[in-house]
Amino acid sequence: MKILGIESSCDETAAAVVEDGSILHSNVIVSQIDIHSHYGGVVPEVAARSHIEAINPVITEALEKANCTWDAIDAIAVTYAPGLIGSLLVGTLAARTLAILHNKPLYPIHHVEAHVYANFVTGTTEPNSTLAFPSKQPRFPMLALIVSGGHSQLVLFRNHGDYELLGQTQDDAVGEAYDKVAKIIGLPYPGGPSIAKAAALGDPRKYRFPKAKLQNPYDFSFSGLKTAVLRSVQAAVGKDYTFPSHELPALLDEVTRNNFAASFQQIANETLVDKAVKAFDDYQPASVVIAGGVAANQDLRKQLKGRLPINIEYAPMQLCTDNAAMIGTLGYYYAQKMAPADPYTLEVVPSLSMTKTAWNKQEA
Ligand code: KG4
Ligand code: ZN
Repeated sequence: MKILGIESSCDETAAAVVEDGSILHSNVIVSQIDIHSHYGGVVPEVAARSHIEAINPVITEALEKANCTWDAIDAIAVTYAPGLIGSLLVGTLAARTLAILHNKPLYPIHHVEAHVYANFVTGTTEPNSTLAFPSKQPRFPMLALIVSGGHSQLVLFRNHGDYELLGQTQDDAVGEAYDKVAKIIGLPYPGGPSIAKAAALGDPRKYRFPKAKLQNPYDFSFSGLKTAVLRSVQAAVGKDYTFPSHELPALLDEVTRNNFAASFQQIANETLVDKAVKAFDDYQPASVVIAGGVAANQDLRKQLKGRLPINIEYAPMQLCTDNAAMIGTLGYYYAQKMAPADPYTLEVVPSLSMTKTAWNKQEA
């Protein structure tokens, strides 16, 4: 079954063709990072406008790269939740229109569930692909550490479409913390990759930031860590909380900036790994996966591997940040359980917890 996946929930316009929830035939991503970096973050109106320009060419390119005519496509899967409303609308309307025009079943996909399914892609037919895939799909029960710009969650999957939320962030998502700390120390947007780069040159033990203690051992909290970094930066340059934070970066030298990046990354990742290891010990899953943009972080991958007694195979970094391969992949498993949506009425849902999707049996 070949599924055309479409993704436009934030600042990437993407389309991909995936067969049977495991083989990638094409994976096209147009990123708006260059546009939004001028503003230090995603500007929703600008994002929606850029999606409108990119969506049709991206879909056409995905079909062409997969050597597919519409006849060869069995279904369309599209991100309908959660995300920026204007951004979601563009992809969803395109998918609805194409489903009607070409008479294809349409599957509405939850973006965060889909991040987890990047781990189910095991190969590609694309010539000259440099992606390094896992050798096999994860087994159930599967523990998923979901770490993106909007989410930080630990989820136990008993099977496809049957999972339980073990814990989640009580305030900022970890990707959000990466982005905010990058801003404090003067590194460019998006903060995750630029912190990772600076951290490689810094000392992760230079500053020892605190870890939040929470009642539920699987919950996260990152806003205290972000404030601790801010206070520490202020102290390092001899200023207090009254000093404008946007003027702090100019006072930091490169060595100090790299040390802050490394020390923040160390504690943020250690916190994530602490919780994942606790959940592993308590639930003894057959596999562990990480998902979402922060899963591209090499130090996180290394720390997790070092502390778990099982072998972990990671998804290619390019499938961790937003893409449509994960949407087309989940579309396949979704189609095994669910009837298609009505293309005339499918609505976007900008905020929808992943535990509330129709695909998951479990109600939170
Ligand atoms: O999954 P994603 O592309 O979009 C959302 O669904 O949120 O995640 C984006 C987040 C951003 O906060 C970005 O800074 C972070 O993922 N990120 C990283 C890395 N690459 C992206 N964080 C740490 N290390 C990275 N290499
Ligand atoms: Zn995402």
